[in-house]
Amino acid sequence: MQVFEKIKETREFIRKNRAEGKSIGFVPTMGALHEGHLSLMECATTGNDIVAVSVFVNPAQFNNPEDLKKYPRDLQGDLKKMEQLGVDLVFAPAVEEMYPEEVTRTYDFGGLDRVMEGQYRPGHFNGVAVVVHKLFEIITPDKAYFGEKDYQQLAIIRKLAEIENLKVKVIGSPIVRETDGLAMSSRNSRLSKEERAIAPVIYKTLKKATSLRGTKTVEEVRRFVHEEINNTEKMELEYFEIADSKTLTPIDSWEASDKPRGFVAAYLGNVRLIDNMAFN
Ligand code: PAJ
Repeated sequence: MQVFEKIKETREFIRKNRAEGKSIGFVPTMGALHEGHLSLMECATTGNDIVAVSVFVNPAQFNNPEDLKKYPRDLQGDLKKMEQLGVDLVFAPAVEEMYPEEVTRTYDFGGLDRVMEGQYRPGHFNGVAVVVHKLFEIITPDKAYFGEKDYQQLAIIRKLAEIENLKVKVIGSPIVRETDGLAMSSRNSRLSKEERAIAPVIYKTLKKATSLRGTKTVEEVRRFVHEEINNTEKMELEYFEIADSKTLTPIDSWEASDKPRGFVAAYLGNVRLIDNMAFN
């Protein structure tokens, strides 16, 4: 496994492998790797000759400086996990390497970036797009893998590939959960023991909500989720939306979408958790 901090040496490695006709699968991450990240890398190892992973906590996508400061980091632990999985290239740049100058580029995602996460984290998706676009330019992947855990991010990246005419095939991968249903997240390590025990309420509420589709209206399901989450001690709902899984436009009736999906963001203490689930 090769580990590079510099863009130049990463490009050189890619160029050599390209010259040998090898295909490249890419998994961008912010590190503090867990089973969710590793599942993306496993997908990448089966469909490509070379697996590249980036580990970069991207300041451009944090709208909350405190969140950036507290973001967990463990490069040595991450490298061990990736080595075991057979990852070929790790690109772990410093902030100055990725952003020698101030970032000014803005993208138009046609509204995809203004609902849900976009509404509550202004500038977040632009920051994600800036870094992922730059990483795509460096790694030039044939395929890139993103988790449905960040479902809206996956939609944004698909849109980025479309509007920028990128050759990369964007592949979505299912949410990996703890045995009690909590969606795996690097932020889970910031939960206290007590909070960790409460956290699966989000999954359980989503699961119950999706089972109500046949008998309740969209509005009734929405109300149910609001009450369940807000009646849970230490938990506060930021938003719950039922939206079309393709356009991410929130719906008001079941007829408005073939494939509705529920999206939650909630605070547990001061840790912000997100999750989503299909209403099949
Ligand atoms: P990060 O939160 O580290 O996640 C990296 C990838 O792992 C994302 O595609 C995310 O959706 C996926 N992932 C995280 N938890 C998962 C889970 N429980 N199940 C399945 N997949 C999961 O997302 C980012 O980093 C950044 O925004 C990034 C794309 C790297 C740009 O900076």
